[in-house]
Amino acid sequence: MTSRLIPVPPFVLTVFGATGDLSRRKLIPALFHRDADGQIPDEALIIGVSRRAMSDAEFRAFAHQALTDHIPAAELKEPELERFLGRLSYVAADADAEPGWSELATRVANAGDMIPVYYLATAPHLFGPICERLGKYGLAEKGRVVIEKPIGKDLSSAVALNEQVGRIFPEERVYRIDHYLGKETVQNLMALRFANALFEPLWNNAHIDHVQITVAEALGVEERAGYYDTAGAMRDMVQNHMLQLLCLVAMEPPASLDADAVRDEKLKVLRALKPIADHNMAQLTVRGQYRAGASAGGAVPGYLEELGSSRSETETFVAVKAELENWRWAGVPFYLRTGKRLASRVSEIVIGFRHVPHSVFGDAVGAIEPNRLVIRLQPDEGVKLWLMIKDPGPGGIRLTHVPLDMSFAKAFKVRNPDAYERLILDVVRGNQTLFMRRDEVEAAWKWVDPILQAWRGAKEPPRPYTAGTWGPSASIALIERDGRTWLEDGA
Ligand code: BG6
Repeated sequence: MTSRLIPVPPFVLTVFGATGDLSRRKLIPALFHRDADGQIPDEALIIGVSRRAMSDAEFRAFAHQALTDHIPAAELKEPELERFLGRLSYVAADADAEPGWSELATRVANAGDMIPVYYLATAPHLFGPICERLGKYGLAEKGRVVIEKPIGKDLSSAVALNEQVGRIFPEERVYRIDHYLGKETVQNLMALRFANALFEPLWNNAHIDHVQITVAEALGVEERAGYYDTAGAMRDMVQNHMLQLLCLVAMEPPASLDADAVRDEKLKVLRALKPIADHNMAQLTVRGQYRAGASAGGAVPGYLEELGSSRSETETFVAVKAELENWRWAGVPFYLRTGKRLASRVSEIVIGFRHVPHSVFGDAVGAIEPNRLVIRLQPDEGVKLWLMIKDPGPGGIRLTHVPLDMSFAKAFKVRNPDAYERLILDVVRGNQTLFMRRDEVEAAWKWVDPILQAWRGAKEPPRPYTAGTWGPSASIALIERDGRTWLEDGA
């Protein structure tokens, strides 16, 4: 397999927040996987930074533990493990104080010509101060900076944050991660649309009836309740992941995969989102919050119990009917739905085609179901195309709806790389295609802000739903009012 991998140039990656959750769960395992596959050059270095005092050896032990916790033992082999841990070193530094920064500057300078990358796996309020110090210590000149969502909590805070970062790093060296864009099947959406002649002629309001995008999680907020209560599902999932998925479904074919060619097209989609006005907020949006219920066969607490509070208006579920004001999509609703503690973990995009214009089969043979293309992001990544065929056997024509079913795991038998594996190396390669540009982030907030504002001013709190269900019944009503139904689990 190694021969198919595109090598990356030597780099020195500094991870701020190196002892935090993101680093432990995602970044360290992702870097190890790429290294074990032979894609990371011998000279590359990884420097962990956080406030905690720690020696290089202690940081290596920390990283070793992170790998043991998140990677199956069979994949953690020597000599790969030793080589990876050997790349790691550690500097204790605080965004708001001088100690440690000169040491970091020396280590990065010692790396010579290697590409400096700074990954800010920290709380967003530290992005500005960290960038300023990177500038002050001469680390920003050639460096690339990676920032994670949430990028702001509304349009004005996002603009302020982008300005802070932009004062030190020019836009072409800012990488805003939306890890959904690094998922295998999300990329496959582009392959499906633009590497097949079949779909593009049908990809418009003449042939597509509606689109559904569901990102459902079975887990609750658990130990992230503190952060989550300041965000809610709209900021945590819709403003970024869901709108990015919508963009990939709805964008015009870019002329190439060049970063700005793709991002220009996504931006046009975000700008074409029809604003949701106050008077139809209740018709077009639903917010919910889970109560105690059952998940995976066991009892689970409600959101307020997890939060340890008797009151919160934070939504853990959102359903929205979005529309695009452009020629291709006018009149085609995009139903978006996401939530915590739903019936199962499933993320999928359903493209619902229109009915055939006329049935030549008469009523006796059963209804003709419209075609559907289901792109399953997780789990069991794959693509299903639902078609009508004749039910086999004698006795005249009876019709049946069946899927052409392509499971990636069965078809390719390869490990599906985590999104971070691809995205971190794209930063090193200098490829911004899968990263959000500043104007995209701000355009997304522009659409989201009025919804959040209306919810804040609303008299009713989020609608309760029982953990382990598909959300509040109002979400079902939102789509059924239009004579359509949410489709679950590849249906
Ligand atoms: C994150 C959100 O961005 O995405 C989390 O902050 C959410 O709340 C997660 O659980 C979902 O990501 P994935 O890759 O597990 O679908």
